[in-house]
Amino acid sequence: MKTKSVIKAAYKILEASILTHEGKPVGTVAALSSPHLAAANYEECFIRDFIPSALVFLADGRGDIVRNFLTTVLKLRTRERTIAGHEIQPGVMPASFRVVTDQDGNENILADFGEKAIGRVAPVDSMLWWIILLYIYQQSTGDTELAQKPEFQDTMKQILHLCIRDSFEVSPALLVPDACTMIDRRMGIYGHPLEIQSLFFGVLRVIHKLLDDPMPDKKNHSLLETAFTRERALQNYVRIFYWMDLERLNEVHRYTTEEFGPDSRNVLNIYPESIPDWITEWLPDECGYLVGNVGPSRMDFRYFSLGNLLAVIFGLATDVQSEKIMRLYEQRWDDLIGSMPLKIIYPAMEGLEWQVRTGSDPKNVPWSYQNGGNWPALLWSFVAAGLKTGRGDLCERAFQIAVRRIGTDNWPEYYDGRSGRLIGRRSNSQQVWSATSLILSHKLLENPDMLGILP
Ligand code: GLC
Repeated sequence: MKTKSVIKAAYKILEASILTHEGKPVGTVAALSSPHLAAANYEECFIRDFIPSALVFLADGRGDIVRNFLTTVLKLRTRERTIAGHEIQPGVMPASFRVVTDQDGNENILADFGEKAIGRVAPVDSMLWWIILLYIYQQSTGDTELAQKPEFQDTMKQILHLCIRDSFEVSPALLVPDACTMIDRRMGIYGHPLEIQSLFFGVLRVIHKLLDDPMPDKKNHSLLETAFTRERALQNYVRIFYWMDLERLNEVHRYTTEEFGPDSRNVLNIYPESIPDWITEWLPDECGYLVGNVGPSRMDFRYFSLGNLLAVIFGLATDVQSEKIMRLYEQRWDDLIGSMPLKIIYPAMEGLEWQVRTGSDPKNVPWSYQNGGNWPALLWSFVAAGLKTGRGDLCERAFQIAVRRIGTDNWPEYYDGRSGRLIGRRSNSQQVWSATSLILSHKLLENPDMLGILP
């Protein structure tokens, strides 16, 4: 009964969050708690926040909203402001958008490419999510015509070009700036953050099913071929270089460094001295995870939930790795699930590390917000990953924890504290993706076949 009433309340939030443009529903706002929003842009529709809304709409047969959203965002991509000598590439999509009415009553859509974000960083995840959502929409509705439209084909090519063209990079992982993902403040994730690699892999995995038959167009053909090769290369790279378990930790612990040439084992020249103290006792036997970031002499050992869970869902991690990731949740339940699923990052950065890597960001103090807070919005990805690996038991347990508090707490955006017992200090209430994530988790638990529409 409790579950039923909480889901009903979540639906009320979803309905109230729908944003319309010229009478048509085009998205959902980030939070309803206006006028007490933590920031003005929470009144906007964020691309990433819309994903769980979209999945709920699709499951309820309301594919038209998702279609409108995909079309709206596509049109916005060419509206970015350019700075002389520095153009934002045409494939880049906004973080969010809003509908404004002018004096004559005309409605306009205004996109935000990071100008309203704290660090003025354009999101990279938006364009990747957009392609993934297009695929999910196609799978769910059977409408293959939308992706076939010339402007959709062009947009996908632009995004693909942007991601796979030559750059300064030598690894198959995508190189991006800090704050360009769900974590949109400075948090030491510049370089090759796992979340972006998982999303990029998701795109490479489905692009063949969305882009036209390559044969008639030689150029397009080579783009798809490159995408295919990159998919394999990225998969192998992440499975090897990002993987962490006790065996791997031992290997890194005993690495020789400063090796040169093709026979070197410690290719990235990771110094064993960089292994943080917390990991040695924390990492259980028989468990493992993908680390947050790798680069030259750099291994970010922190556990990032979204990147790992998407790696499980999209098949970037092997089956064995996926099982070990889910087992990590089981063995470290208090740390990674705690009083409210799920921890966004473990562990939090403290002291000097927090000062240096966040720029002393007071919103991201240790065990708060993006620096180790707990985010209900992540629940659906945990449930999807858990169901995929046969760990429905863990999903049900986490879901019940969320149901118990989240409605009474008025749908916070995030929770603070090591185990997430406190409502986030500067958290919005009625955060829409906290509500939609719960509805979606419920739907997935009731009907695991829904997983079939994901990449
Ligand atoms: C915060 C989150 C970001 C989210 C936005 C809107 O900035 O870090 O991931 O998209 O809020 O909810």
